Amino acid sequence: MRAALAATTLLLALTALAACGATPQTTLEPTTEAARQARDLMVFVFWAAAVVFVIVESALVYILIRFRRRPGDGLPAQTHGHTALEIAWTIPPTILIGVIAALTIPVIFANAQPAGADAMRVRAIGHQWWFEFDYPELGVVTANELHLPVDRSVELQLESDDVLHSFWVPRLRGKLDMVPGRVNRFTIRPEVTGTFQGQCAEFCGTAHALMKFTVVVETQAEFDAWAAAQLAERTPPSSELARAGEEAMAAGGCVACHAIRGTDAAGVLGPDLTHVASRAHIASGILANTPDNMRRWLQDPQGVKPGNLMTIPELTDDQLDALTAYMQGLT
Ligand code: CUA
Repeated sequence: MRAALAATTLLLALTALAACGATPQTTLEPTTEAARQARDLMVFVFWAAAVVFVIVESALVYILIRFRRRPGDGLPAQTHGHTALEIAWTIPPTILIGVIAALTIPVIFANAQPAGADAMRVRAIGHQWWFEFDYPELGVVTANELHLPVDRSVELQLESDDVLHSFWVPRLRGKLDMVPGRVNRFTIRPEVTGTFQGQCAEFCGTAHALMKFTVVVETQAEFDAWAAAQLAERTPPSSELARAGEEAMAAGGCVACHAIRGTDAAGVLGPDLTHVASRAHIASGILANTPDNMRRWLQDPQGVKPGNLMTIPELTDDQLDALTAYMQGLT
């Protein structure tokens, strides 16, 4: 019995530890001041709760055993009201809650500070089920991959095109809702370069769990080069196959939803594809941007991401090859 219990405990502990392996969306490894403050608060509250848990449970177990009813016991002494006990379970919890409030309130105010005048502004717009990123000062429009320069404040203007979404990059900041009909703002000041995983954190329909994005934090020079490349019109097709892809795209109606600057495609319902090949992922962060995955996506978007709004006729192998070649050339 004892061995079985020990084995079960070990198994549970190992399972819990295994879940802590690759965690790109962990809140425990913050890389900004705002995310660090949130992590520190969470850690403090966790340990405070752990201490309370141990005290309360120990007392409970002790009392259950020590004062259990034994054969022949009569009615125990009946107590009504106990001033010392009542003070003990009122004053210390009030102090603890007061400490938590005193630590939390300044962080809430610090996080609500508007961005300075020198901050870069980016509109992040939630769609079912992808993210649009517009840089009004630069004229750049992209999707599902937010590029930010390191060590510069960015004011994100969070909006929604349809239903409630929530913008969440755990290592950069806490989450904030994207609400139809209003603009929520918050500031991020990335401190380290790298790629960070983001996720929609508000249930928004069938493909909510597949509504992901990445944030690429890079040096100012890298960011400027990226922005300049994004501003350019599409790279013209460089092969016969890719040219056929561009024609198939226009003929197949894709242009009704997607924009590719430099062509007639000017749709605004789906992601801008002018530089789709420059992005590391497709289908809002769920597939690596490889030729195989692009083909898979074009062949069966509903299979890859059930419920998504991309409707596409069944394509022949030749059309799939041509469209894939064309997409891969849109650097
Ligand atoms: Cu968008 Cu969940």
